[in-house]
Amino acid sequence: MELIVKPDRVKAGLLGAKIIAQVVRERADAVLGLATGSTPLSLYAELVRMHCEEGLSFKNVVTFNLDEYVGLDPSHPGSFHAVMEKHLFQHLDLRPGATHLPDGCAADIPGSCEAYERSIKAAGGIDLQLLGIGGDGHLAFNEPGSSLSSRTRIKTLTGETLRANSAPFGDLDKVPKHVITMGLGTIMEARSCLLLAFGTDKAEAIHEMAEGAVSASCPGSILQFHQKAIVLLDEEAASRLQRKQYYLDVYAGKPEWQCWE
Ligand code: GLP
Repeated sequence: MELIVKPDRVKAGLLGAKIIAQVVRERADAVLGLATGSTPLSLYAELVRMHCEEGLSFKNVVTFNLDEYVGLDPSHPGSFHAVMEKHLFQHLDLRPGATHLPDGCAADIPGSCEAYERSIKAAGGIDLQLLGIGGDGHLAFNEPGSSLSSRTRIKTLTGETLRANSAPFGDLDKVPKHVITMGLGTIMEARSCLLLAFGTDKAEAIHEMAEGAVSASCPGSILQFHQKAIVLLDEEAASRLQRKQYYLDVYAGKPEWQCWE
């Protein structure tokens, strides 16, 4: 796991966009795993800028999102379909049908979860999976206690996650309690992972994820087993790291050919 600490979330978001842009430039038909939440929004805005001002093309890129609410119409502003359309998809030159999210309105949920796994495989697997993390260490909607080898499936949200995601629904009671999420096993098959975390609310989860024991109690800690996981933090999210100075030294001394900036 490579931990990179930037002075603030703006600089971290810009670097995250550079990392994704490099993947797309190296492989025009890259398969990107995408995430929702507030954390990746500045990164998405920078990708849109790179597309509009620098000609970064996504016309052969394929995307798979991590998760979606069960029973929420894709047109609902709180649905991850709507969020992705608003902040990213409508601004890029992605082909129709190139973007995929779990189908929260499927009549046969287990069948549609299996189909989602099959379409990731049929696309050749995910080149880079973008991730955020919950304050309790959850990845996508894999809440604490999730199987470390889980696949795409239905999950029930914890009270903490319901509260954290309530803003677009106005009322806590209106937040769907069930979701479909890629599993931890699904995420671990991505060829690289890029996790972003900002703010003091994430500091403990980041410490547990990177420096604690690998445990289903902190689902993010499974990334300690990933061969290529990059964790991009602002100073606040890095504030509980015990080896912070070491991570800063590693980044400052990186050979030029490994750098993105
Ligand atoms: C939700 C999403 C996660 C995201 C997390 C953190 O639970 N399913 O993918 O990482 O929220 O969200 P935020 O970035 O808003 O802190």
